[in-house]
Amino acid sequence: MPVHYNGEQFAGSQSCIPCHQNIYKTHINTPHFNTSAIASEETLKGPFNDSSHEVELIDGVARMIHEGDAYYQTISSKTSDELIDKSRLDIVVGSGVKGQSYLTFNEDFLTQLQVSYFTLTDDFINSPGYPNYRFTRSVTDNCIKCHVTFAKNGDFKGNTNIYERESFIYGIDCERCHGPLQKHVDFRTGNLQQMKEDVVIKIDTLARQLKMDICVQCHSGLRAIQIKDNPFSFVTGEKLDDYAKNYNFGRPETQLDVHGNQYGLLKSSECYKNSSTMSCTTCHDPHLNQRGETDHFNAKCVECHALPKDLHKSPNLNSSNLNNCISCHMPLFPSQTMKVQLGKDTQETSVNIRTHLIGIYVDGMLQKRKN
Ligand code: HEC
Ligand code: HEC
Ligand code: HEC
Ligand code: HEC
Ligand code: HEC
Ligand code: HEC
Ligand code: HEC
Repeated sequence: MPVHYNGEQFAGSQSCIPCHQNIYKTHINTPHFNTSAIASEETLKGPFNDSSHEVELIDGVARMIHEGDAYYQTISSKTSDELIDKSRLDIVVGSGVKGQSYLTFNEDFLTQLQVSYFTLTDDFINSPGYPNYRFTRSVTDNCIKCHVTFAKNGDFKGNTNIYERESFIYGIDCERCHGPLQKHVDFRTGNLQQMKEDVVIKIDTLARQLKMDICVQCHSGLRAIQIKDNPFSFVTGEKLDDYAKNYNFGRPETQLDVHGNQYGLLKSSECYKNSSTMSCTTCHDPHLNQRGETDHFNAKCVECHALPKDLHKSPNLNSSNLNNCISCHMPLFPSQTMKVQLGKDTQETSVNIRTHLIGIYVDGMLQKRKN
């Protein structure tokens, strides 16, 4: 197990099992835990070895193949079918809720492959943001910081694509949110009894912003400007704004997309502004996979909005159709970045993403509050 930049030793989630078994059991089924892994039969989705799922580029044809234990992306010439490139899928990024991308090591140099998997259409596509010719993107800390627990870059600032392969802790594991905890494990197993106090931070005692910052490090846009240290340096209990911020492109914080800003959106909502306690974990249990649990989320709304019947005056809103609060107040919008054109004459198909700008929407437009 690697040592964090702050000098603390990671223990690994296996070591939590004896004492936090229930949390461990549900955690391993979350998209967080499964958001990156060594590429293998268990972790990869998609129709490998199927010629109807090739990706055509201007200067080649990309194919996804499975040979023995390994998976590869090949690119062949369009005219002669000559093999131009063959790269092994080493790391898979994305649990597959929306899609998966692939990283490959060339020696210790890490790059992202041309092709990604798009769950909505069960098809391979040219990776979002890629041009339609052969291209490779270097993977730096600013790409993988939100999809792994830890990885050690050749450069302290995290700007190269050289990595120590043994330093990877895949997935968003316990210690990404709770900090490296070998000392806690040793203390609780009786090996460090000379220590007076447990080092583990009790998150429920933190101020709201510090609690938010745990989630905000990955859910508030890319935060690509590193102010201090390295993209993996921040640990729970610290102030995130001391470490990193977003480029100001003059875009509103409430712009929505995959890799979007749930924090910026939520912070602009009346619910958040008018409550001193609301945080991400008001609605989300970070140890559970809760997608699609409408009853759970309705119950959260009703904890603060006691009588929905009285809030809805319009005659077409009777109590029988009020039981899915988020369908009207946190509606889905099509992604601008994760979309694909399926045929030459068809419209693009997008994944839908849920806005966290809670409000009143009419025909997809947020209604401004009259104060
Ligand atoms: C030998 C048993 C043991 C092991 C192993 C262990 N813990 Fe704990 N942990 C405890 C005990 C006991 C507490 C205190 C519980 C309490 O105060 O109610 C605790 C508390 C915690 C808390 C703070 C809970 C709070 O009150 O907010 C967190 C977070 C935590 N552990 C995470 C972990 C993680 C992550 C691992 C694995 C890396 C781990 N623990 C391994 C026994 C253990
Ligand atoms: C600032 C944090 C952040 C960075 C940097 C980031 N991602 Fe993500 N990524 C997320 C979050 C959060 C989600 C899921 C929520 C969403 O869609 O906004 C996600 C979703 C994804 C998904 C879909 C996962 C699924 O299972 O549906 C893929 C694939 C992905 N990212 C690949 C990448 C790649 C490749 C890079 C580097 C070029 C990257 N991401 C950089 C935070 C990040
Ligand atoms: C995505 C971030 C995240 C991950 C991953 C995560 N936790 Fe937590 N954990 C939290 C937050 C946030 C809280 C505080 C919850 C609250 O305020 O309601 C918490 C609370 C806890 C607590 C104390 C409260 C309780 O529910 O008993 C323990 C113990 C704990 N986590 C252990 C773990 C272990 C063990 C793992 C891995 C198997 C893990 N956590 C993974 C964010 C995370
Ligand atoms: C290290 C970066 C990171 C941290 C910290 C983090 N997330 Fe995430 N979160 C992600 C990524 C990446 C995904 C997409 C996972 C995937 O599907 O591959 C995601 C997905 C999610 C999802 C969607 C799950 C689904 O069903 O598809 C929720 C909800 C979520 N995160 C909430 C939280 C909350 C709440 C916290 C704080 C307690 C938090 N996250 C902390 C990176 C992070
Ligand atoms: C922690 C408490 C809390 C929770 C949880 C909460 N809200 Fe709110 N919400 C508020 C407060 C406070 C206001 C501002 C006062 C008001 O308008 O009632 C508000 C305002 C609103 C408004 C009016 C927005 C506007 O722009 O006029 C809507 C709609 C709303 N909430 C819906 C929801 C829905 C749907 C959920 C569940 C997904 C939810 N709220 C969860 C506290 C909360
Ligand atoms: C079918 C769509 C729909 C559903 C479902 C729905 N609402 Fe609303 N809600 C509205 C509309 C539209 C308004 C604006 C007021 C009106 O037209 O009566 C509104 C207004 C509100 C307001 C603001 C009241 C005010 O004037 O400040 C709150 C809070 C609210 N809803 C909460 C909820 C909660 C909680 C649920 C789930 C139990 C829910 N809504 C379900 C459409 C819906
Ligand atoms: C008022 C309740 C509420 C709060 C507070 C809240 N969320 Fe959510 N979140 C939801 C609901 C409801 C969904 C949709 C779940 C589903 O699809 O089943 C959701 C979905 C998500 C998703 C998946 C988005 C997608 O489009 O696939 C992410 C990521 C997420 N939340 C992160 C966060 C983060 C980070 C915070 C804090 C900044 C937060 N949420 C605060 C209610 C909330």
